[in-house]
Amino acid sequence: MINIKQIIMSKTKLINQLFLPFELKSNVVVKNRLAVATMTTQQSNSDGTISVKESAWLERLASDGYGLVISCAATISREAIGFYNQLSVGEDPMIADLSLLAQRMKSHNTINLIQLCHAGSRAIHSLTGVKPKSASSYSVPMIADFETPEMLTVTEIKEIVTDFADACERVEMAGFDGVELHGANGFLITQFISSYLVYWNCFRSIKR
Ligand SMILES: Cc1cc2nc3c(=O)[nH]c(=O)nc-3n(C[C@H](O)[C@H](O)[C@H](O)COP(=O)(O)O)c2cc1C
Repeated sequence: MINIKQIIMSKTKLINQLFLPFELKSNVVVKNRLAVATMTTQQSNSDGTISVKESAWLERLASDGYGLVISCAATISREAIGFYNQLSVGEDPMIADLSLLAQRMKSHNTINLIQLCHAGSRAIHSLTGVKPKSASSYSVPMIADFETPEMLTVTEIKEIVTDFADACERVEMAGFDGVELHGANGFLITQFISSYLVYWNCFRSIKR
């Protein structure tokens, strides 16, 4: 026979666990296990500085009681832009406004991260001013307006690694607790590791 009381007790225990602190490997303690996944809202200013609306949104999430709040995907450089009105951590002048936001979010005792992104082949040419670049030069015939990216050179890859590191430093200087690297949704990191793209490139080479 199902013991309703036991089921309710076990569910309650599980739910209560959500509100227990959680210690990360870095010894940082998150006040509970509720986290807001990163969501790109495209509401930063067109120069990449954080807007009043975006600040208010992130501060509201912090004040809502989540233990961990992750920002939208922020671009690490001008060449990496993948969205209109995308937040940028690609230049030092961005730090001042971000540090005001970090202070306000910190007052709610949250752990706050900024997601770092390089769009690679998905970078928007009209915003970056340069042809998109990726792990390899590939075409996607199913997408009519897909712009074939140029293959990154080893020197360029090293520059991008430095851009990621510089962006991390800016995030830290602004007073955020850490970063999350965007390694999904077909952006640059995925373009290096996606089995679909690796398969697609191998297939094209064999065909040639
Ligand atoms: C509007 C919207 C924007 C998102 N933007 C990002 C993003 O910038 N970076 C990312 O890694 N995931 C992004 N995601 C994915 C979410 O972070 C999350 O992984 C996804 O919604 C699945 O979680 P859920 O099942 O709780 O919705 C976005 C999702 C939504 C709905």
